[in-house]
Amino acid sequence: MYDYNYTNEQLESIKKVEESRQERLSSLFARMSAEEKQTVLKENHPDYIESAYEELKVGQNKGGKVLHELADLLQGKSRVLDMDIDLTKPDYDVDVLVIGGGGAGSSCAIEADNAGAKVMMVTKLRIGDANTMMAEGGIQAADKPNDSPATHYLDAFGGGHFAAKHELLYKLVTEAPDAIRWLNDLGVMFDKDADGTMITTHGGGTSRKRMHACKDYSGAEIMRTLRDEVLNRGIPVVDFTSAIEIIKDTEGKACGAVLMNMETKDIYVAKAKTVVIATGGAGRLHYQGFPTSNHYGATADGLVLGYRAGAKLLYADTLQYHPTGVAEPTQIFGALVTEKVRSLGAQLVNKDGKAFVYSLETRDVTASSIIRECKKRDNGIKTTDGEGVWLDTPMIDIIHGEGTIEKRIPAMLRMFIKYGIDIRKEPILVYPTLHYQNGGLDISADGMSTTVPNLFVAGEAVGGIHGRNRLMGNSLLDIIVFGRNAGKSVGKIYKDVVVKEMTLDHVKEFDAELKKAGLNPTKLSPQLLPNYTKQPAI
Ligand code: FUM
Repeated sequence: MYDYNYTNEQLESIKKVEESRQERLSSLFARMSAEEKQTVLKENHPDYIESAYEELKVGQNKGGKVLHELADLLQGKSRVLDMDIDLTKPDYDVDVLVIGGGGAGSSCAIEADNAGAKVMMVTKLRIGDANTMMAEGGIQAADKPNDSPATHYLDAFGGGHFAAKHELLYKLVTEAPDAIRWLNDLGVMFDKDADGTMITTHGGGTSRKRMHACKDYSGAEIMRTLRDEVLNRGIPVVDFTSAIEIIKDTEGKACGAVLMNMETKDIYVAKAKTVVIATGGAGRLHYQGFPTSNHYGATADGLVLGYRAGAKLLYADTLQYHPTGVAEPTQIFGALVTEKVRSLGAQLVNKDGKAFVYSLETRDVTASSIIRECKKRDNGIKTTDGEGVWLDTPMIDIIHGEGTIEKRIPAMLRMFIKYGIDIRKEPILVYPTLHYQNGGLDISADGMSTTVPNLFVAGEAVGGIHGRNRLMGNSLLDIIVFGRNAGKSVGKIYKDVVVKEMTLDHVKEFDAELKKAGLNPTKLSPQLLPNYTKQPAI
């Protein structure tokens, strides 16, 4: 009956899911109380596993806790320590150096270019090789008559456990409608009704339908458009080249970066009046052994570069585990199953065919509920790589009519059908996957680091916009809002910046601090690429 080679246990469980479907379709699962949410989080969310954390011994966040994997990099060995680098003859001299080739970096570069600045992007892979490209479900903006930025703010503030920095979240929600207009005008093909009205849906924790989407490849469509815009404008993009250290001048201002060609390992010096870190996330560090939905290059490089240069981190201890990563088949283990699948009506169901959580609770609560169902209640289904629960996708076509899956989430359909699983006919197995770093570098509303002058940050490398948990669709939004914001900010100041003598003394000082704290790291950082082999990292 099925093309996929399910185990007997899985087949029996699918039968139960099918048998319970009608009853589940006619009854809504109750939402959790605030107390219930706190309990499920504390008892199950990976952020609460104390043994996974350690105290930082040096830097702006000395005494604060981060996951071991990140601590190793933040307190790692700089790649430039053993190098003899001549900073007096820069290979590049620009007004704005954008580090990172994703949505935030591209939006920043476009706005800085609008301001007349000489911009250069540098990216360790190619422009567009980034988490933006992988984003699926959509981008939030309160632009419908029944909605408002204030309501958007309340949803995001509550979803983030009331920890977001007010001025950042305010900017995010108030500039969201303009971000959508900007993208639409650039050529992003949003889903629209026949009369041109944007189609919007719910996401976890939203009280209004404000998720704008391009089917279930919203990020790819947005990145395609931004990349075209950057390239059409002739903004230089130095690809396959990573920033391995921020350069500061003798006044402590960020004024460039040491660059390394990823293939030849040749070293270059980029001088800049302003520097923007837009390096994205950290899923490829596989915190606590989790698989990830992230792009290959997501190794927290920006956090390391910024921290060593004296930037402060905010909420770097909190990570987002997306509730629905692929649990089976093994070939796509950890890949993202967009929340849009649940917003279209698919329910989360255990091995006995029972729903166990309202499917659109905020992500941290939903992920924790899945972990509890599997680990504490033994109601998970065994998979090749561990266990998971069912996401009952056939409900979507039953609720909205045949053809909905094909029309609204074609990428999901394609991803599974390659392995013989037809999500229109059979449920799929899911388990939380490492998806997003809620924290990052601390910035002011203009996008500048709170502690390093002329160092700007945009996108997932920023901390504080979302508090301690992010709602779906607010990340594609933040890369646009804060990417553009950084671009406009550097555009305003670059003409007045005078770069003094360039220096890497801060790197030596950081290293001396490490030694003083009894650390003698050998692990090179930033990591740049995931290390899936036993070979030494480059
Ligand atoms: O589920 C998703 O489509 C992910 C969206 C997001 O992280 O914003």
